[in-house]
Amino acid sequence: MKNWNHVKVESAEKGAEQAYRIIKDELQHNRLNVLGLATGSTMIPVYKKITESDLDFSHVTTFNLDEYVGITAENPNSYAFFMKQHLFGKKKFKETNIPNGMAADLTAECAAYEQLLLKNPLDIQFLGVGENGHIAFNEPGTSADSVTHVTQLADSTLGVNSQYFGDDERIPETAITMGISSIMSAKKLILLAFGEKKRAALMKLVEGTVTTEWPITELLNHEDVIVITDLEI
Ligand code: GLP
Repeated sequence: MKNWNHVKVESAEKGAEQAYRIIKDELQHNRLNVLGLATGSTMIPVYKKITESDLDFSHVTTFNLDEYVGITAENPNSYAFFMKQHLFGKKKFKETNIPNGMAADLTAECAAYEQLLLKNPLDIQFLGVGENGHIAFNEPGTSADSVTHVTQLADSTLGVNSQYFGDDERIPETAITMGISSIMSAKKLILLAFGEKKRAALMKLVEGTVTTEWPITELLNHEDVIVITDLEI
């Protein structure tokens, strides 16, 4: 049985409007206190809608999905920098959390992040998807019961994401990511995917078989998933 709702839109811009509408509705019904955030170009129009609005997020705590290991928040490729640029620098939240990829003890950092998530259950988690089907940085092969951990980025991810790094800069090969189980604990998941490059991953969801080779298919085990896409699937 299909467990997810497909919202077909004409463009990423229209998709952002849909996502924004859901957030607004949840806020107005007092159902949004903890919000899971994602990075990537897909999310930029959503954050634009939010920052241009007068919605009040001052009671909302946020958790980001992931962060590269070994680059600081001042590095424009860090997810901390991205979030400040697109959202946190323009909208007030109660508290914002992003894994610290510069932590001296990464294992302890992951455990602490997971503890914080347990104390602050996610009402909504935004998700993008990688071309290889990864969600956050849970690469193909990641176990369904994974929690926040350090992950080795897949070669395909390094290939896609390295375009953002300068010629004289190396993309980190590891990252901290919320695990699949951490993500699945959110009450509601909103996945956004636009453009043909995301078709292969979305089609795995459509096929309806859970396989660790395509982490996106783990969403088939969640009971409240909204997929916003411009693709006919
Ligand atoms: C990165 C992030 C993912 C995100 C993906 C898609 O790999 N770790 O969380 O879903 O990028 O990025 P884009 O939206 O730029 O296609």
